[in-house]
Amino acid sequence: MDLALGRRLRELPGPILLTGHTGFKGTWLTIMLERLSVPVVGLSLAPLENSLFSRADREGKIQEIFTDICGYPQVEKFVFETQPSLIIHMAAQPLVMGSYKAPRETFATNVMGTVNILNCAFACDSVEAVGVVTTDKVYRNDDSGRAFVESDPLAGKDPYSASKVGAEAAVAAWQHIRKISGGPRVISLRAGNVIGGGDWAEDRLLPDLVKGFWEGKQVDVRNPESTRPWQHVLDPLRGYLMTLECALAGTDVDAINFGPSDASLKVQEVVKVAQNAWPTPTTVAFSESDSKFASEAVSLQLDSNRAHTLLGWDMKWSQSEAVTATIDWWDKVLNNGMHPHEACIQDIESALVY
Ligand SMILES: NC(=O)c1ccc[n+]([C@@H]2O[C@H](COP(=O)([O-])OP(=O)(O)OC[C@H]3O[C@@H](n4cnc5c(N)ncnc54)[C@H](O)[C@@H]3O)[C@@H](O)[C@H]2O)c1
Repeated sequence: MDLALGRRLRELPGPILLTGHTGFKGTWLTIMLERLSVPVVGLSLAPLENSLFSRADREGKIQEIFTDICGYPQVEKFVFETQPSLIIHMAAQPLVMGSYKAPRETFATNVMGTVNILNCAFACDSVEAVGVVTTDKVYRNDDSGRAFVESDPLAGKDPYSASKVGAEAAVAAWQHIRKISGGPRVISLRAGNVIGGGDWAEDRLLPDLVKGFWEGKQVDVRNPESTRPWQHVLDPLRGYLMTLECALAGTDVDAINFGPSDASLKVQEVVKVAQNAWPTPTTVAFSESDSKFASEAVSLQLDSNRAHTLLGWDMKWSQSEAVTATIDWWDKVLNNGMHPHEACIQDIESALVY
């Protein structure tokens, strides 16, 4: 294990407050922090049935509160009670399709949730830095295929992307407040679609494939020619922690990208790797996007040079290795009866070994 990663985090007087700890990324990050012996507390909505959090029996394992991040008094109370040294803000409505169905709620959670956390962080003296998790979809995408750098213009078309641009506006405002009157460092953490064992969300490629493979049904997949910067969830999570350690060491960084360095795989290539990794034969049918909704960006790449040079961060898994690791996780859990927590620990140990 690369315990050097958590060294600064273990020396902090207070815990890390993780918002969104019942979510997919939040569950992985909580288990990773526990493995690094870093104290962590969580604030989220109650876990969803079939979530990784529920499957891995996480309820009650850390100090936690299930509450709406839009309710300022209870968020403030929890922050003051737990006196965190760091906050990683992940709580969000993270689905593009969900944002078309509920745009107002998406903006409320993603923008005002971020505003609430930043306001509390600046009010509570224990907080030294805040990492705000946004997305690669905050960049204004002209489908030129160029990899985005952190200083590129931001603009989101669909309600989810636009709400995350709103979160970025809040980050910029509190970065400015820090310059005027002090306060914790605030960093925007931008990564693309992540994959990994335990994600059961709707309208995401890997979960849809696993559900179909497991039930023995044909899987319908949109946009086979689209490319995405696929990455294993543990790669950006490691990057988030490295960024916060760097901020604790006194480095100023406003935003940082974490994307794969190998060429993005097409959706149909991901499907092929997944089908090869699953132990039994599977059926997939491809179609073009539903035109009722603005189509998702066809091409999306991140330039991660800042993460390479500033942090020494790099991907542990190639994109096809990440797909294979995800399918292997589900194979161990669904077909071979391994406890999901144990399957996560196995992946975390291989992600942290150098
Ligand atoms: N999963 C991806 O591929 C991906 C890609 C880019 C960015 N992100 C970002 O990473 C973060 C985590 O995503 P995820 O995939 O783990 O999502 P998820 O849906 O699995 O988890 C979302 C978490 O946010 C919490 N949450 C939602 N609404 C809330 C509210 N009103 N009050 C309090 N908590 C609330 C949920 O309880 C849950 O813990 C999000 O900010 C998302 O936008 C995810």
